[in-house]
Amino acid sequence: MASMILSSYPRPKGNTFPHRKKLQSPVVGNRRYLLSSRKQVSCKANSYENEERSLGRLERRDVLIGLGGLAGSASLSADPLALAAPIQAPDFSKCGPAKLLSTGEVISSNCCPPVDLTILDYKLRPAPNKLRVRPAAHLVTDEYLAKYKKAVSLMKALPDDDPRSFSRQANVHCAYCNGAFDQVGYTDLVLQVHFCWLFFPFHRWYLYFYERILGKLIDDPTFTLPFWNYDSPPGMQIPAIFTDTSSSIYNSLRNPNHQPPTVMDLNWSGTDSTTTSNDDLIAANLKTMYRQVAAVKKANLFLGEAYRAGDASSPGQGTVEAVPHNIIHAWTGEPNQPNGEDMGNFYSAGRDSIFYCHHANIDRLWTIWTGLGGTRKNPTDTDWLDAAFLFYDENKQLVRVKVRDCVDEKKLGYTYQEVPIPWLKTPPVPRKPKFTPPASASSVTFPRVLDSVVQVVVTRSKKSRTKKQKEDEEEVLVVDGIKLENDEFVKFDVLINDDDPTASGPDKTEFAGSFVHIPHMESDGKKKKKKDSLGTILRIGISDLLDEVGADDDDSVAVTHLFSITHLSSRLKHRQPARFSVLWVDRFFSDTVYIFRFKNVISSWENSSLQVSKHLL
Ligand code: C2O
Repeated sequence: MASMILSSYPRPKGNTFPHRKKLQSPVVGNRRYLLSSRKQVSCKANSYENEERSLGRLERRDVLIGLGGLAGSASLSADPLALAAPIQAPDFSKCGPAKLLSTGEVISSNCCPPVDLTILDYKLRPAPNKLRVRPAAHLVTDEYLAKYKKAVSLMKALPDDDPRSFSRQANVHCAYCNGAFDQVGYTDLVLQVHFCWLFFPFHRWYLYFYERILGKLIDDPTFTLPFWNYDSPPGMQIPAIFTDTSSSIYNSLRNPNHQPPTVMDLNWSGTDSTTTSNDDLIAANLKTMYRQVAAVKKANLFLGEAYRAGDASSPGQGTVEAVPHNIIHAWTGEPNQPNGEDMGNFYSAGRDSIFYCHHANIDRLWTIWTGLGGTRKNPTDTDWLDAAFLFYDENKQLVRVKVRDCVDEKKLGYTYQEVPIPWLKTPPVPRKPKFTPPASASSVTFPRVLDSVVQVVVTRSKKSRTKKQKEDEEEVLVVDGIKLENDEFVKFDVLINDDDPTASGPDKTEFAGSFVHIPHMESDGKKKKKKDSLGTILRIGISDLLDEVGADDDDSVAVTHLFSITHLSSRLKHRQPARFSVLWVDRFFSDTVYIFRFKNVISSWENSSLQVSKHLL
């Protein structure tokens, strides 16, 4: 079999996603199998054109049918998609069930969309002269609210076989996020739009069609969804429009303790603090927003890691996906429901109208981030731009969309109401504690199960770099081989040169970032075997942090993980205490060194992951 080194794939200049197909190997359990079965992708001078040509010759329907035949074939060279590395739109005819992980029980709702073999490539209409404006949910007018409620009632009244109905639309999220689809052409790789660079574009398209459907139902093409402005003090609670129990946008499955005027905690770890004042909470939230958005300088750190055809899912979440996104899901869902429904679990989140309001703000944060400029740019990598999804549009037509057509939301015809963005001026402040890591921190061995706070001393690969070098290459802390159960809420925080979370909360510079996982159900590939674990990697950019805490000239830094694991669902409450593990806390890498090192250390990483997987099984 001809193999291919992806790093020879032509990269546009300025690409910040190092090719790291094999870097995903240091994961555990069934992932090793995924790695060995990964198909090779051919390398052509202009992959994008080749892909277009090969697909353009075939009628879409034939491609879908043809792929079914090829999926099980041993002849890789006959695979028409061997020319392309972007993730392909899923094959709706091969949708499988989403299951409960702990029991293997199929969840009551079938997430699969209606199958329609007529798929049109979606053509964007020319952007209107006047952009539609998505309003902040706490600022909407009565007139707007009446329209919004009417549109949602009409959506709820659609028959269940209408792909635009409320429940079908909710299931779009379930199907794309709970392993109901395989990657096209692969029978052993699930399609997952979270924990990777598809997170923002997938949800942008999802909301785009959702909004158009609502607009069509009330015959108002200017209709827009509201956004939940939780990045600003007046928006830091459940918007009042969602709490009127008689309204179509009300949902009873929300955390009863988090009703307004409860101020939300963007660093919520599963338990409500009784000691933090609202003012302190708000201040910490603003600093958190700064850290998760404004302070992030590289696309892979902000958007999530590269995820290409043939890759195992979940290569790594971006900052915003973890916080505030996952936190708000967990904070909003009802913990007394079996699976934290609705918002607390991906399969059910779309059943709550607040989900779309939450995601409108996530979408807005993407726009704000690219607007900050500097090195904050969207990828120009064609594997990102050409990644595709399928949605039913407002006319029940199944359409295929690509990431490249959603990168500029103004081309989609909408923008956001202008509101103050207070967090742009609220960087966390350094505490600079006199911290000497305990001797044990130098001898921590991995893998280890995180059942207590872990402190580890990490050697840096470069120090005392110039300003220019730091602009070009971000120093990144890599926490590799995180393994956890898919149906757990897991959060751990990473502190640098500090070990006191009460002193160095999220308002302090030493608080480097968080890993946050929201429960979801996932079956594994076509066989729909129970797949109960997720392997992923956390990366945190820390160049500025080290400067600010005065550690840039140090040879090493001490990293402390502080973690919580909380059962946000009644089903899991009596289970054994959850465990998750970190296989490897790596050295620091800057962007280019990263690729270089990866080539050099790849085999040892693979070897270590193999041993580890045995150890964990
Ligand atoms: Cu697809 Cu908020 O998650």
